Amino acid sequence: MKTIAFTNQKGGVGKTTSTINVGAGLSREGYDVLLVDLDPQANLTYSLRLSSNRLDTSIYDVLKGNADAEETLITHNDGFDIMPSSIDLSGAEMEFANEPAREQILKNKLHPFYDRYDYMLVDCPPNLGLLTLNAFTAVNEIFIVLQSEYLALHGLSKLMDVVQVVKDRLNPAIEITGIICTLYDGRKNLNREVVDHIQDYFGDKVFDTLIRDNVALAEAPSHHKTIFEYDPSSNGAKDYAALAKEIRNGQS
Ligand SMILES: Nc1ncnc2c1ncn2[C@@H]1O[C@H](COP(=O)(O)OP(=O)(O)OP(=O)(O)O)[C@@H](O)[C@H]1O
Ligand SMILES: [Mg+2]
Repeated sequence: MKTIAFTNQKGGVGKTTSTINVGAGLSREGYDVLLVDLDPQANLTYSLRLSSNRLDTSIYDVLKGNADAEETLITHNDGFDIMPSSIDLSGAEMEFANEPAREQILKNKLHPFYDRYDYMLVDCPPNLGLLTLNAFTAVNEIFIVLQSEYLALHGLSKLMDVVQVVKDRLNPAIEITGIICTLYDGRKNLNREVVDHIQDYFGDKVFDTLIRDNVALAEAPSHHKTIFEYDPSSNGAKDYAALAKEIRNGQS
């Protein structure tokens, strides 16, 4: 089983879009996939939830110890499972601040699932707070999602510091194993320069597949669909299918 956190403390870079569509891509290849929504914004949950699904419990209740993790799971049409989030999670950082082993709550709750799935993908919130620390403690791999724009690498040293602290103190197994470049527009010289710069910095950790700027990717969530359901012939579907293959083949 591979456990991967999709992260960047910068907002709006494509973390949720990548978690969903890499997950859907791997699921279409026949793998058992669990998507964990660890963001109080619950964008992943709302982007995928079918309107008929009523959300009784979320990851918040699981972390609080008020619900069984199993009961919260929603199975998507495409066959992968989702552990949903909810706005309740926005108080979690404060609520768990004084708990012993507060960085290990998620890991302990996900433990029963580690043998059940081939891939567990965690969508992180856009900050480096307690929830993100929980994600980094619960997984073995981190994928950093970067927008192919000016300042893409700005603030990354802080992220690297946090990863190092987690590695030293909480989870020796953790490694940054993949860099996903999103919102790529090959017509813009700047985008190409930024990707070159990212490759200089991270070397072969950068996935060869660049996720292009593609309007279908922005539209799919409002239809509660993955890109493969919404527009299978779009560049977005092609790019995420290629990225899922690259991940499955163990590049990274
Ligand atoms: N390749 C793309 N092409 C076009 N639009 C995209 C692409 N990737 C993401 N988007 C859109 O950009 C916005 C931000 O993407 P997304 O929600 O995945 O980012 P995020 O990093 O998860 O944001 P947050 O930090 O708020 O959680 C969304 O409206 C999404 O639909
Ligand atoms: Mg998000």
